Amino acid sequence: MSGPPGDPLSPVAPAGRADPADPAGEGDSADQAGSADPRLAGLTGSTVVVTGAAGGFGRAVSRALAQAGARVVLTGRDPDALDRAAAGLGVPADRVLAVPGDLTDPAAMDRVAAAALRRFGRVDALVNNAAVFGPLGPTWTLDERSWWHAMEVNLRGVLRGCRAVLPHMTAHRAGRIVNVVSSAGRTRWPLASAYSVSKAAVITLTENLAVELRRHAVSVFAYHPGLLDVGMAEDPHRFAERHGPAARAIAAWLRDQADSGGLTPLRTAVTTLALLLTGAADPLSGQYLTARDALAALACSRKADAR
Ligand SMILES: NC(=O)c1ccc[n+]([C@@H]2O[C@H](COP(=O)([O-])OP(=O)(O)OC[C@H]3O[C@@H](n4cnc5c(N)ncnc54)[C@H](OP(=O)(O)O)[C@@H]3O)[C@@H](O)[C@H]2O)c1
Repeated sequence: MSGPPGDPLSPVAPAGRADPADPAGEGDSADQAGSADPRLAGLTGSTVVVTGAAGGFGRAVSRALAQAGARVVLTGRDPDALDRAAAGLGVPADRVLAVPGDLTDPAAMDRVAAAALRRFGRVDALVNNAAVFGPLGPTWTLDERSWWHAMEVNLRGVLRGCRAVLPHMTAHRAGRIVNVVSSAGRTRWPLASAYSVSKAAVITLTENLAVELRRHAVSVFAYHPGLLDVGMAEDPHRFAERHGPAARAIAAWLRDQADSGGLTPLRTAVTTLALLLTGAADPLSGQYLTARDALAALACSRKADAR
């Protein structure tokens, strides 16, 4: 989830740029998020692995990719939730594979990648989307194991996903990875330090990987989808209940953002991520990008810089 800008206890989100995916800011339902988009035609026939695929954003991403013609490999901990998510993609079953796995299991992502290769023969892209919010409160008061668990899922899980698919991608000199992060990783988010620090680490991991992968023709992005009305941020009331007293201020901010138009339309968030997987933004590999970035313009200026 992204942090509340303007709140002294929150990170400050970077300024948004014009939004190519949804300039009018229309369309924020999960159904709209799944409608086919001609710019995503390049994804037809590709194989994409999505972690946290039964969660709010993961489901919407999986649906958009499936409807763009991709073969989608969904993973997450809960087999029933994964099956429901797979059934909800609205595409033939032979283009979908659900492989349950817990990112705290060192071998889980290797099993997912192996299953994807067995079934589809290739893995073109990985969306490292799964994450937990972690404990909330003054850092020194939090249970250390619970704080570290957020690092295990949010950082080590991403590392494990990358390590599982990169031998295949580098061998084929092709592939794209999107690590779903948050503006909370770009700057501080006091009282949510486990989430903030884990996302910061993923942003830096992405920068390093991009340079290492340059000669292998594999791109990797750190992508902040914006504040969404699905998943972690969907229901501020439940969020406050689930995360205890320290969550009340964040829940109030979430309500305020929803009321004041601060949410990113789900379709924008999903389409921008999918565009990253088409290769449209490959010159931007390694960068932290947001749902409101003008990807095409940024990619052009990067190409011009490189000349
Ligand atoms: N919602 C927002 O406003 C927002 C804003 C900025 C960034 N984001 C980012 O978007 C991504 C998706 O978040 P969301 O809002 O959709 O939250 P969500 O609905 O809670 O989804 C998170 C997913 O992660 C999976 N997960 C958690 N622990 C796992 C583990 N140990 N092993 C495997 N999977 C695990 C969960 O699946 P199971 O429980 O089935 O395992 C769940 O489906 C996250 O990276 C989040 O940081 C969200």
